[in-house]
This record gives sequence, C-alpha cells and structure tokens, in this order.
Amino acid sequence: MNKLKVIILAAGEGKRMKSKLPKVLHKVGGKTMVEHVIDTANSAGADDICVVIGHGADEVREALEGKNVSLAVQSERLGTGYAVMQAGDFIEDGADILVLYGDTPLITAETINKLLEFHRGENNSISIISAMVDDPTGYGHIIRDKDGSFLRNVEHKDASDEEKLVKEINTGIYCFTGESLKKGLSLLKNDNVQGEYYLPDTLEIILKDGGRVNAMVAESAEEFAGVNSRAQLAEAEAVMRKRINRMYMDNGVTMIDPERTYIEAGAVIGIDTVLLPGVVIEGNTIIGEDCVVGPDSRLTNVKLGNSVKFQYSTAIDSSVGDNSKVGPYAYIRPNCTIGKNVKIGDFVEVKNSGVGDGTKVSHLTYIGDTDAGERINFGCGTVTVNYDGKKKFRTTIGSDVFIGCNTNLVAPVSVGDGSYIAAGSTITDDIPQNCLAIARERQITKKGWTKK
Ligand code: UD1
Ligand code: MG
Repeated sequence: MNKLKVIILAAGEGKRMKSKLPKVLHKVGGKTMVEHVIDTANSAGADDICVVIGHGADEVREALEGKNVSLAVQSERLGTGYAVMQAGDFIEDGADILVLYGDTPLITAETINKLLEFHRGENNSISIISAMVDDPTGYGHIIRDKDGSFLRNVEHKDASDEEKLVKEINTGIYCFTGESLKKGLSLLKNDNVQGEYYLPDTLEIILKDGGRVNAMVAESAEEFAGVNSRAQLAEAEAVMRKRINRMYMDNGVTMIDPERTYIEAGAVIGIDTVLLPGVVIEGNTIIGEDCVVGPDSRLTNVKLGNSVKFQYSTAIDSSVGDNSKVGPYAYIRPNCTIGKNVKIGDFVEVKNSGVGDGTKVSHLTYIGDTDAGERINFGCGTVTVNYDGKKKFRTTIGSDVFIGCNTNLVAPVSVGDGSYIAAGSTITDDIPQNCLAIARERQITKKGWTKK
C-alpha cells in the first residue's frame, strides 16, 4: 500500500473568533482542534504528518511540541493552494497525500479510511469528499456534467447564479497522489475574485491533464464543519460531547442526562458507574466501577476507586479509594491520597495530604499538609493550622485517633496512635500514643450573674 502522508492546514488567523489565541489552539472536548486532527490522522494510519502554520506560528509550534509532526511555515496568506505549496518538500511521488484542516476537528478516522479506499479502489489521481448541504453559501460548489461525472469545483464567490444553486459542496478534504498534487500546484493560477491560489483548482487542472478525479459524497456534512466563530466552536463541542458520551455509554457507563455530562476524551470510566447531571471530568481522570458521581461535580486528573460516591464536590490531581464517600460540597485540592472507606463530608477541604483507610472527616474541617492515619474521627470544625504567615508546616496524625470538635492542630505537630483530643483544644505540642490531650481554659460558671 502507498505511504500515507497528511498535510494539515493551520495557518489561518480566525478573525471571527475575536481571540488572542490562534484559532486552531481553541479546544473542543478538552483538546485543541489541531491536536484532534493530528490524532485522527494518526488513527487513520498516517505515516507522516506536516502541519502548515502561519498566524501565531510560535504558539502553535509550542503547543505541538512532543507531537510527532513536521512543520511548514506559511508567511503570506495567499490561499489554500499556496498553503499546500509551503509543504512542497513533504510531497512525495508514490505516496497518497491527504489534506485536512486544523479548524475542522470533527473529521473521523472512519471517514478518512473510506476516502482512502475510494481513492485507491478507483485508482484516482485526486479524490475529494463532497457533501449535500441546504445552504451552500461560502463553500466551493461541485460541478458535474449531464451524466453526473465530476467536472470541477467553483468557489462560491466566483460562481455564476446557476452554479450558486448547486447544493453539493466541497468539504475541502482531499486525497492526492504525490505526482498529481505536485503537478496541480505547479500549474495553479490566482486569477479569481479573491486573487488566491485555490487548492481545489488542481482538480480541474489534473482532470484536463488526463488524470482521474472523483468526489465521494459523504452521508452527512457534520464531520466537515469548520470552526470560524465561538458559536461554531460551541456547535463542534456539542457534537464532540455527544460522540464522547456515546462511547462511554457503549462501554457500560450510565448517564442520566448526556447533554449535561462533560467528559474529556482522555478519561477512563468503569462499568456500572452512574454519572448524574452537571458532572465535568477533565484530564487523565480514572473512575472505577459502580461509582456514583454527581450531581454538579468536577474531577480533574483524579483517580476514583470502585463504588465511590462523589456528590456536589470538586477534586483535582488526587486519588480516592474504594467505597469512600465525598461531599456534598467537599473540595479536594491537589496532591491528596484519600484511602478506602473514607468519608470526606460537607464543607471539608483537604490539600496536599494523605487520609488513611476508614477515616471519617464528616463536616466543616480543613486538612492541609497533613499525614493522617487510619480510622481517625475528625470532629466537626477541626483545623490543621499549617501556615504561620511565612512558611507551611506538616501535621502528622496516627491511626485510631479521636479528635474532638473544634480542635486546632498547630503545625508542626504530631498526634500518636490511639490518642484522644478534647473538644475545643488548640494543640501546639506533640501528643504521644494513647493519651488524652486537653488544651483549653477551664470553664468558670458565675452563679446568678445575669440577675446581678
Ligand atoms: C475552502 C475551499 C472550499 C470548501 C471549503 C470547505 C478553497 C479555495 N476553498 O474554502 O472549496 O468548500 O474550504 O470548508 O480551498 N488556510 C491556510 N492558509 C491559507 C488559506 C487557508 O492555512 O492561506 C487554512 C485555513 O486556516 C483553514 C483552511 O485552510 O483551516 C481552509 O481555508 P478557508 O479560508 O477557510 O477556506 P474556505 O474559504 O472556507
Ligand atoms: Mg473555511
């Protein structure tokens, strides 16, 4: 089989986005549009990928570091044909050259493979994907002869009134043989309304040169929607969300309301887990089986074990073990390791801390920079006082400790296994194992004080 080389055009400015960010770096489903296209090209079996960059080239180059792609720089915006010319050295005889767009993130590997099959099966010089749309304004129209054979593409701005009515449009996705692309580009002219070198003009050039050119009509136009504005970005996001959610549901995840469930494609979610409305799952999040997540929760780079209940809460860069319960209204900040059978209840914040198996932190508590053992009971209103205004210090709490309500643990401080702390204590000294520590004023009760 011929080598598959992919050129991705990503030099456009995207004026209508009204953004400081180059258009192709806007994200859909948590991933930049250009990365979607690169990843799709790879899953379709690309041997080499070249991305043509221009507007915001430095930022795009930086964003693509680590991706195995070569870059070509287009400094003058003279049209799609001119953009492909900038990747001239990349075009190879004997290879199939696929052209994709950095702002068309919904294209699938399945469709690319269909195009390749069509292209190779028909032995074409150039194959394009066309689609039927209700409103062809702005697109290139596909002009066919009386018998339905492909003749040429005409851009909307250059089309006659009659041609403007043609609803079969050019999706802008093509497969060329290396030879036909080189030849087509070498003969391109810019004698059109926009004074640009139009890539689709190569179709007519190669056809007239005796090559085989044909259009494969796509079943729907959805995959080819380019993103030019924030509104179109939101539309692409909705399509991507539907696809991602469908994939998770097909793999055994229940969603009460898929339209209100937001998952970035990198997540792994076990079977029989239920996602309630308002769940946002970001980054490399891994969720076990039989969990219930939501409503209204956010997990960013979080690992949840099996059978975890996580409601109305946020967790970032942390893990929670099997059978634990989090929320409502808990906040697990980065670098926390929460064990199994743990309860992190309402209005509890945990940061940069470990919490051992079976520990209960039921309500209104702050645990920061702490190593907490197993089966601890944190009374309501416990605070680890980890900051003296200049530096942060750690608190260490052994296992089977009972901490009375409204306790302050002033770090650095440690509490030994099996110890008890009386409610209302402010602990400043280390507590050995199996002690009772009381650190508060004795109560004075003045009899008859009110009447006096
Ligand atoms: C293009 C096609 C049109 C097709 C439509 C499908 C041409 C002349 N027309 O039109 O037939 O129906 O796509 O969406 O090709 N780009 C560069 N450098 C350039 C110009 C464009 O990198 O100098 C990139 C853009 O960033 C964009 C893509 O190429 O990602 C398409 O360019 P755009 O200007 O949107 O072409 P259309 O006018 O939409
Ligand atoms: Mg466009």
